[in-house]
Amino acid sequence: MAKSKTQFTCTACGNVTTKWAGRCEACGEWNSITEEAPLSAGPANASLGSAKGRRVALTDLTTEETPPPRTVCGVAELDRVLGGGLVPASATLVGGDPGIGKSTLLLQAAARFARMGLKTLYVSGEEASAQVRMRAQRLGLTKSPVMLAAETNLRDILTTLEAERPQLAIIDSIQTMWSDTVGSAPGSVSQVRAAAHELTAFAKRKGIAVILVGHVTKTGEIAGPRVVEHMVDTVLYFEGERGHQFRILRAVKNRFGPADEIGVFEMTGKGLAEVSNPSALFLSDRGQPTPGSVVFAGIEGTRPVLIELQALVAPSPHSQPRRTVVGWDGGRLAMILAVLEARCGIPFAGLDVYLNVAGGMKISEPAADLAVAAALVSAREDAALPADTVVFGEISLSGALRAVGQTENRLKEAQKLGFSSAIAPKGGKPLAVEGITLNRMSDLASFVGETFGAG
Ligand code: TYD
Ligand code: MG
Repeated sequence: MAKSKTQFTCTACGNVTTKWAGRCEACGEWNSITEEAPLSAGPANASLGSAKGRRVALTDLTTEETPPPRTVCGVAELDRVLGGGLVPASATLVGGDPGIGKSTLLLQAAARFARMGLKTLYVSGEEASAQVRMRAQRLGLTKSPVMLAAETNLRDILTTLEAERPQLAIIDSIQTMWSDTVGSAPGSVSQVRAAAHELTAFAKRKGIAVILVGHVTKTGEIAGPRVVEHMVDTVLYFEGERGHQFRILRAVKNRFGPADEIGVFEMTGKGLAEVSNPSALFLSDRGQPTPGSVVFAGIEGTRPVLIELQALVAPSPHSQPRRTVVGWDGGRLAMILAVLEARCGIPFAGLDVYLNVAGGMKISEPAADLAVAAALVSAREDAALPADTVVFGEISLSGALRAVGQTENRLKEAQKLGFSSAIAPKGGKPLAVEGITLNRMSDLASFVGETFGAG
Protein backbone atom coordinates (compact mmCIF):
# COMPACT_ATOMS: atom_id res chain seq x y z
CA MET A 1 0.00 0.00 0.00
CA ALA A 2 1.28 3.44 -0.83
CA LYS A 3 2.36 5.40 2.18
CA SER A 4 -0.06 8.18 3.16
CA LYS A 5 1.36 11.59 2.28
CA THR A 6 -0.63 13.50 4.85
CA GLN A 7 1.25 15.98 6.99
CA PHE A 8 0.29 18.19 9.88
CA THR A 9 1.02 21.89 9.98
CA CYS A 10 0.74 24.44 12.77
CA THR A 11 -1.48 27.29 11.61
CA ALA A 12 0.29 29.69 13.95
CA CYS A 13 3.96 29.14 13.11
CA GLY A 14 3.89 26.83 10.09
CA ASN A 15 5.85 24.01 11.76
CA VAL A 16 5.36 20.69 9.94
CA THR A 17 5.02 17.35 11.75
CA THR A 18 4.00 13.85 10.81
CA LYS A 19 1.65 13.42 13.76
CA TRP A 20 -1.25 15.45 15.10
CA ALA A 21 -0.78 16.92 18.56
CA GLY A 22 -2.89 19.15 20.79
CA ARG A 23 -0.05 21.59 21.19
CA CYS A 24 2.55 22.74 18.69
CA GLU A 25 6.04 21.67 19.72
CA ALA A 26 7.62 24.62 17.98
CA CYS A 27 5.59 27.61 19.18
CA GLY A 28 3.57 26.17 22.05
CA GLU A 29 0.21 27.21 20.58
CA TRP A 30 -2.75 24.98 21.50
CA ASN A 31 -5.19 23.52 18.97
CA SER A 32 -3.35 25.04 16.05
CA ILE A 33 -2.31 21.87 14.21
CA THR A 34 -4.26 20.89 11.13
CA GLU A 35 -3.97 18.22 8.49
CA GLU A 36 -2.77 19.44 5.10
CA ALA A 37 -1.79 18.22 1.69
CA PRO A 38 2.00 18.00 1.43
CA LEU A 39 3.80 21.09 0.21
CA SER A 40 5.12 19.49 -2.96
CA ALA A 41 1.67 20.08 -4.46
CA GLY A 42 2.61 23.74 -4.92
CA PRO A 43 4.66 24.92 -7.89
CA ALA A 44 7.02 26.84 -5.64
CA ASN A 45 8.08 23.57 -4.06
CA ALA A 46 8.29 21.45 -7.15
CA SER A 47 11.15 19.02 -7.05
CA LEU A 48 14.35 20.13 -8.80
CA GLY A 49 14.62 16.85 -10.69
CA SER A 50 17.59 16.46 -12.98
CA ALA A 51 17.13 19.67 -15.02
CA LYS A 52 20.18 21.90 -14.94
CA GLY A 53 19.96 25.42 -13.52
CA ARG A 54 21.21 28.65 -15.06
CA ARG A 55 24.45 30.12 -13.75
CA VAL A 56 23.76 33.21 -11.65
CA ALA A 57 25.64 36.46 -12.22
CA LEU A 58 27.65 37.51 -9.17
CA THR A 59 28.29 41.06 -7.95
CA ASP A 60 30.21 42.63 -5.09
CA LEU A 61 29.49 44.94 -2.18
CA THR A 62 31.29 48.01 -3.47
CA THR A 63 28.69 49.16 -5.99
CA GLU A 64 27.03 52.27 -4.55
CA GLU A 65 23.31 52.02 -4.03
CA THR A 66 21.12 55.03 -3.59
CA PRO A 67 18.52 54.67 -0.83
CA PRO A 68 15.07 53.76 -2.21
CA PRO A 69 12.81 56.71 -3.08
CA ARG A 70 9.96 56.77 -0.60
CA THR A 71 6.44 58.04 -0.82
CA VAL A 72 5.00 59.59 2.32
CA CYS A 73 1.23 59.45 2.73
CA GLY A 74 1.00 62.42 5.05
CA VAL A 75 -0.18 60.42 8.06
CA ALA A 76 2.95 60.94 10.14
CA GLU A 77 2.20 58.04 12.47
CA LEU A 78 2.09 55.61 9.55
CA ASP A 79 4.99 57.09 7.59
CA ARG A 80 7.27 56.86 10.61
CA VAL A 81 6.39 53.22 11.31
CA LEU A 82 7.14 52.39 7.67
CA GLY A 83 10.60 53.86 8.23
CA GLY A 84 9.92 57.20 6.54
CA GLY A 85 7.40 56.36 3.85
CA LEU A 86 6.49 53.54 1.52
CA VAL A 87 9.29 51.89 -0.47
CA PRO A 88 8.49 50.85 -4.05
CA ALA A 89 8.62 47.13 -4.86
CA SER A 90 8.42 46.23 -1.17
CA ALA A 91 6.17 43.78 0.65
CA THR A 92 4.56 44.75 3.92
CA LEU A 93 2.42 42.63 6.21
CA VAL A 94 -0.08 44.29 8.53
CA GLY A 95 -1.26 41.79 11.14
CA GLY A 96 -3.81 42.16 13.89
CA ASP A 97 -6.87 40.72 15.59
CA PRO A 98 -10.09 40.66 13.57
CA GLY A 99 -12.07 43.85 14.10
CA ILE A 100 -9.12 45.87 15.40
CA GLY A 101 -9.27 48.25 12.42
CA LYS A 102 -6.86 46.93 9.78
CA SER A 103 -9.24 47.47 6.87
CA THR A 104 -10.06 50.95 8.13
CA LEU A 105 -6.38 51.85 8.46
CA LEU A 106 -5.48 50.53 5.03
CA LEU A 107 -8.43 52.10 3.25
CA GLN A 108 -7.44 55.44 4.77
CA ALA A 109 -3.81 54.83 3.81
CA ALA A 110 -4.84 53.81 0.28
CA ALA A 111 -6.77 57.05 -0.11
CA ARG A 112 -3.82 59.09 1.13
CA PHE A 113 -1.29 57.37 -1.10
CA ALA A 114 -3.62 57.70 -4.08
CA ARG A 115 -3.93 61.41 -3.42
CA MET A 116 -0.13 61.62 -3.27
CA GLY A 117 -0.11 60.40 -6.85
CA LEU A 118 0.49 56.67 -6.40
CA LYS A 119 -1.68 54.48 -8.58
CA THR A 120 -3.38 52.46 -5.86
CA LEU A 121 -5.42 49.27 -6.01
CA TYR A 122 -7.34 47.95 -3.01
CA VAL A 123 -8.35 44.30 -3.29
CA SER A 124 -10.90 43.17 -0.74
CA GLY A 125 -11.42 39.45 -0.32
CA GLU A 126 -13.72 39.90 2.64
CA GLU A 127 -16.14 42.62 1.69
CA ALA A 128 -18.03 43.43 -1.50
CA SER A 129 -16.99 46.60 -3.33
CA ALA A 130 -20.24 48.23 -2.23
CA GLN A 131 -19.34 47.63 1.41
CA VAL A 132 -15.89 49.11 0.92
CA ARG A 133 -17.44 52.12 -0.82
CA MET A 134 -19.87 52.59 2.06
CA ARG A 135 -17.00 52.56 4.49
CA ALA A 136 -15.12 55.04 2.31
CA GLN A 137 -18.19 57.29 2.35
CA ARG A 138 -18.30 57.20 6.12
CA LEU A 139 -14.60 58.01 6.26
CA GLY A 140 -14.99 60.86 3.74
CA LEU A 141 -12.62 59.27 1.25
CA THR A 142 -14.81 58.97 -1.82
CA LYS A 143 -12.89 61.66 -3.73
CA SER A 144 -9.64 59.68 -3.68
CA PRO A 145 -8.74 57.89 -6.91
CA VAL A 146 -8.40 54.40 -5.37
CA MET A 147 -9.20 51.48 -7.67
CA LEU A 148 -11.30 48.80 -5.99
CA ALA A 149 -11.69 45.08 -6.57
CA ALA A 150 -13.57 42.43 -4.62
CA GLU A 151 -11.81 39.20 -5.50
CA THR A 152 -10.21 36.17 -3.89
CA ASN A 153 -8.85 34.29 -6.89
CA LEU A 154 -5.12 34.82 -6.93
CA ARG A 155 -4.68 34.08 -10.62
CA ASP A 156 -7.26 36.74 -11.52
CA ILE A 157 -5.69 39.24 -9.15
CA LEU A 158 -2.22 38.70 -10.62
CA THR A 159 -3.57 39.11 -14.15
CA THR A 160 -5.29 42.33 -13.10
CA LEU A 161 -2.12 43.64 -11.46
CA GLU A 162 -0.18 42.80 -14.62
CA ALA A 163 -2.65 44.74 -16.75
CA GLU A 164 -3.23 47.74 -14.46
CA ARG A 165 0.34 48.06 -13.12
CA PRO A 166 -0.55 49.93 -9.91
CA GLN A 167 2.29 51.29 -7.77
CA LEU A 168 0.60 50.14 -4.58
CA ALA A 169 -1.62 47.09 -4.15
CA ILE A 170 -3.37 46.33 -0.87
CA ILE A 171 -4.59 42.77 -0.35
CA ASP A 172 -7.22 42.50 2.40
CA SER A 173 -6.72 39.80 3.58
CA ILE A 174 -4.10 37.22 2.69
CA GLN A 175 -6.19 34.52 4.38
CA THR A 176 -9.03 34.94 1.92
CA MET A 177 -6.79 34.59 -1.13
CA TRP A 178 -7.05 31.35 -2.98
CA SER A 179 -4.65 29.83 -5.47
CA ASP A 180 -5.86 27.01 -7.73
CA THR A 181 -2.38 25.48 -7.81
CA VAL A 182 -2.68 24.44 -4.17
CA GLY A 183 -5.09 21.73 -3.12
CA SER A 184 -6.04 22.88 0.37
CA ALA A 185 -8.76 25.27 1.50
CA PRO A 186 -8.35 29.09 1.61
CA GLY A 187 -6.83 30.16 4.91
CA SER A 188 -4.78 26.98 5.30
CA VAL A 189 -1.04 27.25 5.78
CA SER A 190 -0.19 26.11 2.24
CA GLN A 191 -2.70 28.50 0.66
CA VAL A 192 -1.58 31.50 2.70
CA ARG A 193 2.06 30.68 2.08
CA ALA A 194 1.56 30.19 -1.65
CA ALA A 195 -0.54 33.35 -2.04
CA ALA A 196 1.96 35.46 -0.09
CA HIS A 197 4.86 34.01 -2.05
CA GLU A 198 3.22 34.62 -5.43
CA LEU A 199 2.13 38.15 -4.55
CA THR A 200 5.44 39.27 -3.08
CA ALA A 201 7.49 37.71 -5.88
CA PHE A 202 5.24 39.27 -8.50
CA ALA A 203 5.35 42.66 -6.80
CA LYS A 204 9.14 42.66 -6.58
CA ARG A 205 9.43 41.67 -10.21
CA LYS A 206 7.08 44.39 -11.42
CA GLY A 207 8.03 47.11 -8.98
CA ILE A 208 4.70 47.19 -7.14
CA ALA A 209 4.56 47.87 -3.40
CA VAL A 210 2.19 45.36 -1.81
CA ILE A 211 0.59 45.52 1.59
CA LEU A 212 -0.88 42.25 2.84
CA VAL A 213 -3.42 42.21 5.64
CA GLY A 214 -3.22 39.19 7.94
CA HIS A 215 -5.61 38.21 10.70
CA VAL A 216 -4.09 36.94 13.90
CA THR A 217 -6.06 33.93 15.00
CA LYS A 218 -6.29 32.45 18.43
CA THR A 219 -8.41 29.50 17.42
CA GLY A 220 -6.09 28.29 14.66
CA GLU A 221 -8.81 27.65 12.05
CA ILE A 222 -6.91 29.81 9.61
CA ALA A 223 -3.18 30.35 9.31
CA GLY A 224 -1.79 33.32 11.18
CA PRO A 225 0.53 36.00 9.76
CA ARG A 226 3.58 34.32 11.29
CA VAL A 227 3.52 31.94 8.35
CA VAL A 228 4.42 34.80 5.98
CA GLU A 229 6.50 37.03 8.26
CA HIS A 230 9.79 35.84 6.80
CA MET A 231 8.70 36.45 3.20
CA VAL A 232 7.99 40.14 3.52
CA ASP A 233 10.26 43.15 4.07
CA THR A 234 8.24 44.80 6.77
CA VAL A 235 5.94 43.37 9.43
CA LEU A 236 3.61 45.72 11.24
CA TYR A 237 1.20 44.70 13.98
CA PHE A 238 -1.92 46.67 14.71
CA GLU A 239 -2.76 46.26 18.38
CA GLY A 240 -5.19 47.57 20.90
CA GLU A 241 -7.89 46.49 23.29
CA ARG A 242 -11.35 46.14 21.82
CA GLY A 243 -12.92 48.35 24.51
CA HIS A 244 -10.28 51.08 24.15
CA GLN A 245 -10.15 53.63 21.39
CA PHE A 246 -6.32 53.58 21.16
CA ARG A 247 -4.68 51.56 18.44
CA ILE A 248 -0.95 51.02 18.14
CA LEU A 249 0.79 50.18 14.89
CA ARG A 250 4.10 48.53 15.75
CA ALA A 251 6.94 47.66 13.40
CA VAL A 252 8.30 44.29 14.51
CA LYS A 253 10.48 43.84 11.43
CA ASN A 254 11.60 46.40 8.90
CA ARG A 255 14.24 45.90 6.24
CA PHE A 256 14.01 49.60 5.37
CA GLY A 257 13.89 51.26 8.76
CA PRO A 258 14.04 50.83 12.51
CA ALA A 259 11.98 48.06 14.10
CA ASP A 260 10.12 48.72 17.36
CA GLU A 261 8.81 52.02 16.02
CA ILE A 262 5.19 52.70 16.97
CA GLY A 263 2.43 54.84 15.56
CA VAL A 264 -0.52 55.71 17.77
CA PHE A 265 -4.06 56.11 16.47
CA GLU A 266 -7.45 56.69 17.97
CA MET A 267 -10.54 54.93 16.59
CA THR A 268 -13.25 57.53 16.16
CA GLY A 269 -16.64 57.55 14.49
CA LYS A 270 -14.88 58.82 11.38
CA GLY A 271 -12.13 56.24 11.23
CA LEU A 272 -8.64 56.33 12.65
CA ALA A 273 -7.21 59.64 13.74
CA GLU A 274 -3.49 59.96 14.37
CA VAL A 275 -2.31 60.78 17.86
CA SER A 276 0.85 62.80 17.66
CA ASN A 277 1.28 63.22 21.41
CA PRO A 278 0.53 59.79 22.87
CA SER A 279 1.78 60.60 26.37
CA ALA A 280 -0.94 63.20 26.82
CA LEU A 281 -3.51 60.66 25.68
CA PHE A 282 -2.29 57.83 27.88
CA LEU A 283 -2.21 60.07 30.93
CA SER A 284 -5.39 62.03 30.25
CA ASP A 285 -7.58 60.09 32.70
CA ARG A 286 -5.28 60.51 35.66
CA GLY A 287 -6.83 62.28 38.62
CA GLN A 288 -5.56 62.49 42.19
CA PRO A 289 -2.46 60.46 43.12
CA THR A 290 -3.67 56.94 43.91
CA PRO A 291 -1.83 54.07 45.58
CA GLY A 292 -0.67 51.59 42.96
CA SER A 293 -0.50 54.13 40.14
CA VAL A 294 2.92 55.05 38.76
CA VAL A 295 3.94 56.90 35.60
CA PHE A 296 6.64 55.14 33.61
CA ALA A 297 8.83 57.18 31.27
CA GLY A 298 9.34 54.73 28.42
CA ILE A 299 10.83 54.73 24.94
CA GLU A 300 8.87 53.24 22.06
CA GLY A 301 11.00 53.05 18.95
CA THR A 302 12.58 56.46 18.60
CA ARG A 303 10.05 58.29 20.68
CA PRO A 304 9.61 58.77 24.45
CA VAL A 305 6.15 57.90 25.76
CA LEU A 306 4.80 58.30 29.28
CA ILE A 307 2.57 55.45 30.35
CA GLU A 308 0.61 54.86 33.53
CA LEU A 309 1.07 51.54 35.32
CA GLN A 310 -1.58 50.41 37.78
CA ALA A 311 -1.21 47.73 40.43
CA LEU A 312 -3.68 46.26 42.84
CA VAL A 313 -2.63 44.03 45.74
CA ALA A 314 -5.26 42.35 47.90
CA PRO A 315 -5.44 39.43 50.35
CA SER A 316 -6.16 36.29 48.38
CA PRO A 317 -9.03 33.93 49.18
CA HIS A 318 -7.28 31.22 47.13
CA SER A 319 -4.55 28.83 48.19
CA GLN A 320 -2.73 29.84 44.98
CA PRO A 321 -2.80 33.65 44.88
CA ARG A 322 -3.56 35.23 41.51
CA ARG A 323 -0.96 36.98 39.37
CA THR A 324 -2.71 38.81 36.54
CA VAL A 325 -0.89 41.05 34.07
CA VAL A 326 -2.29 43.07 31.18
CA GLY A 327 0.19 44.75 28.84
CA TRP A 328 3.39 43.43 30.39
CA ASP A 329 5.25 40.14 30.70
CA GLY A 330 3.99 37.72 33.36
CA GLY A 331 7.39 36.13 33.83
CA ARG A 332 8.99 39.49 34.42
CA LEU A 333 6.32 40.29 37.05
CA ALA A 334 7.17 37.07 38.89
CA MET A 335 10.82 38.11 38.85
CA ILE A 336 10.12 41.56 40.28
CA LEU A 337 7.97 40.02 43.03
CA ALA A 338 10.78 37.61 43.87
CA VAL A 339 13.37 40.41 44.01
CA LEU A 340 11.09 42.52 46.22
CA GLU A 341 10.71 39.59 48.60
CA ALA A 342 14.33 38.40 48.63
CA ARG A 343 16.20 41.73 48.51
CA CYS A 344 13.79 44.15 50.18
CA GLY A 345 11.93 41.86 52.57
CA ILE A 346 8.52 42.68 51.11
CA PRO A 347 6.57 39.41 50.77
CA PHE A 348 3.62 39.00 48.43
CA ALA A 349 2.69 35.50 49.60
CA GLY A 350 -1.04 35.18 50.24
CA LEU A 351 -1.74 38.31 48.19
CA ASP A 352 -3.42 38.55 44.81
CA VAL A 353 -1.46 40.81 42.45
CA TYR A 354 -2.94 42.58 39.43
CA LEU A 355 -0.88 44.73 37.11
CA ASN A 356 -2.32 46.77 34.28
CA VAL A 357 -0.77 49.03 31.68
CA ALA A 358 -3.31 51.81 31.16
CA GLY A 359 -4.74 52.65 27.76
CA GLY A 360 -4.31 49.21 26.19
CA MET A 361 -0.59 49.77 25.68
CA LYS A 362 1.88 46.85 25.71
CA ILE A 363 5.33 47.41 27.20
CA SER A 364 8.33 45.20 26.56
CA GLU A 365 11.15 47.44 27.79
CA PRO A 366 13.10 46.17 30.84
CA ALA A 367 13.28 49.83 31.84
CA ALA A 368 9.73 49.42 33.14
CA ASP A 369 10.96 47.16 36.00
CA LEU A 370 11.41 49.93 38.51
CA ALA A 371 8.06 51.50 37.69
CA VAL A 372 6.39 48.09 38.13
CA ALA A 373 8.14 47.57 41.47
CA ALA A 374 7.07 51.06 42.54
CA ALA A 375 3.45 50.36 41.57
CA LEU A 376 3.46 47.03 43.44
CA VAL A 377 4.93 48.42 46.65
CA SER A 378 2.73 51.51 46.44
CA ALA A 379 -0.35 49.29 46.15
CA ARG A 380 0.76 46.96 48.93
CA GLU A 381 1.63 49.77 51.35
CA ASP A 382 -1.41 51.81 50.30
CA ALA A 383 0.86 54.82 49.81
CA ALA A 384 0.73 56.92 46.65
CA LEU A 385 3.79 58.20 44.87
CA PRO A 386 3.75 62.01 44.36
CA ALA A 387 1.70 62.81 41.25
CA ASP A 388 4.53 64.82 39.67
CA THR A 389 7.00 61.91 39.54
CA VAL A 390 8.02 59.58 36.72
CA VAL A 391 9.96 56.35 37.27
CA PHE A 392 12.20 54.18 35.08
CA GLY A 393 15.08 51.72 35.45
CA GLU A 394 15.95 48.07 35.07
CA ILE A 395 16.17 45.79 38.13
CA SER A 396 18.71 42.99 38.30
CA LEU A 397 18.21 39.82 40.35
CA SER A 398 20.61 41.14 42.98
CA GLY A 399 18.26 44.04 43.58
CA ALA A 400 20.66 46.54 42.00
CA LEU A 401 19.26 49.16 39.62
CA ARG A 402 20.73 49.27 36.14
CA ALA A 403 20.94 52.38 34.02
CA VAL A 404 18.87 52.39 30.84
CA GLY A 405 19.30 54.21 27.54
CA GLN A 406 17.90 57.57 26.47
CA THR A 407 17.59 59.00 29.99
CA GLU A 408 17.62 62.54 28.66
CA ASN A 409 14.77 61.93 26.20
CA ARG A 410 12.68 60.36 28.93
CA LEU A 411 13.25 63.30 31.26
CA LYS A 412 12.50 65.88 28.57
CA GLU A 413 9.21 64.19 27.74
CA ALA A 414 8.30 64.16 31.44
CA GLN A 415 9.16 67.83 31.75
CA LYS A 416 7.09 68.64 28.67
CA LEU A 417 4.05 66.99 30.21
CA GLY A 418 4.32 68.87 33.49
CA PHE A 419 6.18 66.40 35.68
CA SER A 420 8.83 67.84 37.98
CA SER A 421 10.70 64.88 39.41
CA ALA A 422 12.06 61.54 38.28
CA ILE A 423 13.39 58.41 39.94
CA ALA A 424 16.07 56.64 37.92
CA PRO A 425 19.05 54.33 38.44
CA LYS A 426 22.53 55.59 39.31
CA GLY A 427 25.18 55.20 36.66
CA GLY A 428 25.34 56.45 33.12
CA LYS A 429 26.52 59.98 32.47
CA PRO A 430 25.65 62.82 34.80
CA LEU A 431 22.80 64.79 33.38
CA ALA A 432 20.44 67.58 34.21
CA VAL A 433 17.18 68.50 32.55
CA GLU A 434 15.75 71.86 33.52
CA GLY A 435 12.61 71.63 35.59
CA ILE A 436 13.16 68.01 36.66
CA THR A 437 14.58 66.98 40.02
CA LEU A 438 16.40 63.77 39.31
CA ASN A 439 16.66 61.27 42.14
CA ARG A 440 19.16 58.57 41.27
CA MET A 441 19.16 55.34 43.28
CA SER A 442 21.62 52.46 43.26
CA ASP A 443 19.41 49.64 44.50
CA LEU A 444 15.80 48.64 44.92
CA ALA A 445 15.95 48.34 48.71
CA SER A 446 17.04 51.96 49.18
CA PHE A 447 14.38 53.12 46.70
CA VAL A 448 11.66 51.27 48.59
CA GLY A 449 12.98 52.43 51.94
CA GLU A 450 13.27 56.09 50.97
CA THR A 451 10.06 56.33 49.00
CA PHE A 452 7.65 54.24 51.04
CA GLY A 453 9.54 53.65 54.30
CA ALA A 454 8.92 49.95 53.68
CA GLY A 455 11.16 46.89 53.65
P1 TYD B 1 -12.11 46.94 10.56
O1 TYD B 1 -11.22 47.91 9.88
O2 TYD B 1 -13.18 46.32 9.74
O3 TYD B 1 -11.28 45.80 11.27
P2 TYD B 1 -10.40 44.60 10.66
O4 TYD B 1 -10.21 44.87 9.22
O5 TYD B 1 -9.12 44.66 11.45
O6 TYD B 1 -11.13 43.35 10.92
O7 TYD B 1 -12.70 47.72 11.79
C1 TYD B 1 -13.80 47.25 12.41
C2 TYD B 1 -14.14 48.04 13.65
O8 TYD B 1 -13.83 49.41 13.59
C3 TYD B 1 -15.62 47.95 13.82
O9 TYD B 1 -15.85 47.30 15.07
C4 TYD B 1 -16.13 49.33 13.83
C5 TYD B 1 -14.92 50.18 14.03
N1 TYD B 1 -14.99 51.43 13.25
C6 TYD B 1 -15.15 52.64 13.90
O10 TYD B 1 -15.25 52.70 15.13
N2 TYD B 1 -15.17 53.80 13.17
C7 TYD B 1 -15.07 53.80 11.83
O11 TYD B 1 -15.09 54.87 11.20
C8 TYD B 1 -14.90 52.55 11.15
C9 TYD B 1 -14.79 52.47 9.67
C10 TYD B 1 -14.87 51.39 11.90
MG1 MG C 1 -11.01 43.77 7.61
